[in-house]
Amino acid sequence: MRGKVSVIGAGNVGASVVQRLGEKGYMDVVLLDILEGVPQGKGLDMLQACPILGCDSTIKGTNDYADTANSDVIVITAGVPRKPGMSRDDLLLTNMNIVRGVTENVVKYSPNCVIIVVSNPLDAMAQLALHVSKFPRNRVIGMAGVLDTARFRTFLAQELQVSVEDVQAYVLGGHGDTMVPLVRYTTVGGIPISDLLPKETIDRIVQRTRQGGGEIVALLKTGSAYYAPSAASVQIVESILLDKKRILPCAAYLQGEYGIKGLFVGVPVKLGKNGIEKIIEIKLAPEEEAALKKSAASVKELVDVMKLGV
Ligand code: APR
Repeated sequence: MRGKVSVIGAGNVGASVVQRLGEKGYMDVVLLDILEGVPQGKGLDMLQACPILGCDSTIKGTNDYADTANSDVIVITAGVPRKPGMSRDDLLLTNMNIVRGVTENVVKYSPNCVIIVVSNPLDAMAQLALHVSKFPRNRVIGMAGVLDTARFRTFLAQELQVSVEDVQAYVLGGHGDTMVPLVRYTTVGGIPISDLLPKETIDRIVQRTRQGGGEIVALLKTGSAYYAPSAASVQIVESILLDKKRILPCAAYLQGEYGIKGLFVGVPVKLGKNGIEKIIEIKLAPEEEAALKKSAASVKELVDVMKLGV
């Protein structure tokens, strides 16, 4: 049976997600937006690339949620992106209304799907999607840690002039300036990073990672990153569709894990056909735990503004 994935929002992130998914060649993909013609046009254009690329995916652009019916996975990218000088948190009120409506619609047609939230501010939007969908927590996932970790790995590989494939790392916490790159769990070819780089260099890279999204917003001036965010989203989708059981950092609704309750925060999770099949608790050093709590507190501030009553 072919998997079905629907992507809501046909802008930079959504269209890139669909392109990457379509090129996998083995699933049915739907691209939905409120703009008339845009998802249809982009979908048709991508479909016409398939004979050249040799992929048998179907790609359909639409404005009608009925076309998303019975999706295995729904990726929510609808919303406005940041402009220079804005933080992700500045998007809260606008994207809150968008994500609420989108979630109501996707749930109506795909009551058994796994939802991956990409819209920002990420952790708060994931919390909203969980609240509105009333899904069990394993079926609502926020995409952030895979992206933040990829940024961290990129900068480390550049610094050391080594293959990105050999750099393993973890970035936990909220998807914002308080995110927590876990230096202690970062290795290059199995060697701890602290044996390879001086502390000042690691600190500089950690700081650049924290501001990784902002660096791109400042360069683009008219929007935010989408190539790496779409690649990160697709890695999560594939782990679910193919039941791969990958261990990846994602925003998950914590119910006491890491001493945090009732909040989405980035932690390592096992991803399979049921979505988040396990939240993995790693032992943190006191300063790492404090940084994670601080990050959770900033997520809570935003969640409180939404007054969800959960
Ligand atoms: N339903 C469906 N689509 C919507 C809705 C809605 N209610 N509201 C807006 N959209 C669509 C817009 O029409 C637009 O095509 O969402 C798309 C957003 O695309 P972009 O403006 O290109 O933004 P993008 O860069 O894709 O970012 C989307 O992902 O990474 C996050 O911070 C980013 O929140 C932002 C989101």
